[in-house]
Amino acid sequence: MSSRTAIVTGGASGIGLAIGRRLAADGASVALMDLDAEAARDAAAALEAEGGKALGLGVDVTDRLAIDSAVAEVRATLGASAILVNSAGITVAGPFLELTAETWNRVLAVNLTGTFECCQAVLPDMIERGWGRIVNISSSSMHSGVPGMAAYVSSKAGMVGLTKVLALEFGRRGITVNTIPPGFIETPMMRESLRKGVFDMDLQVSRTPVGRVGRPEDIAATCAFLVSEEAAYITGQIIGVNGGRNT
Ligand SMILES: NC(=O)c1ccc[n+]([C@@H]2O[C@H](COP(=O)([O-])OP(=O)(O)OC[C@H]3O[C@@H](n4cnc5c(N)ncnc54)[C@H](O)[C@@H]3O)[C@@H](O)[C@H]2O)c1
Repeated sequence: MSSRTAIVTGGASGIGLAIGRRLAADGASVALMDLDAEAARDAAAALEAEGGKALGLGVDVTDRLAIDSAVAEVRATLGASAILVNSAGITVAGPFLELTAETWNRVLAVNLTGTFECCQAVLPDMIERGWGRIVNISSSSMHSGVPGMAAYVSSKAGMVGLTKVLALEFGRRGITVNTIPPGFIETPMMRESLRKGVFDMDLQVSRTPVGRVGRPEDIAATCAFLVSEEAAYITGQIIGVNGGRNT
């Protein structure tokens, strides 16, 4: 993967950071884009200290101008992007009748529209070289729904639809587009949900056939395969990484 440049949104934390770390270890030059600019820079510095090539950039995925300028900076410093992983995301929980349009719009803006904007910003580089890999980190919650998470689950279901369409539109250009809906993965986002009582850890683990909570590295390993040369015949797919659960 040494000649490849990868962009990972939400790359300063949790699943995005684990994916960035794994792709850097596999030899890719990695741009970590995150709303938290300082955390993105610190994470990139850590990857460099581990022997990787990385760049940390503060980017809000709801801001198209910021995305375009970051993609241009990546092109100038690391080379044109061949891999895009959309992991930036937020979650909000609460009863549906109390969900405001403002909260709904914010969750959709980050999780779904942010993914759309990043795909549109990066695809021209992939089309030009006739090779590309996009992996959208959706959520296992889109299989069954989760009470109190209408905006989040809807945004994640939308990411699956977007993945399917892009796979069809760009398959003949050497570009694959897949989605990983993670199950219950221990990250700062999940720890916050546990703290707020949205989920119960023991209950979640008891419902998981492999009997443990997921690790960010479980997602990173699957992502590393999907962005590899060998995964060229896999596109438009939903690759569940959930310890055997389907909800
Ligand atoms: N942890 C889980 O169990 C789980 C399960 C299913 C899906 N997911 C999805 O995986 C992805 C990563 O989640 P995580 O658990 O690693 O969470 P996390 O909170 O640890 O990481 C998410 C990152 O996204 C960044 N971010 C938020 N809004 C942003 C914006 N507007 N622009 C750019 N960056 C932004 C945050 O700063 C953070 O660094 C999310 O899309 C989440 O919905 C997580």
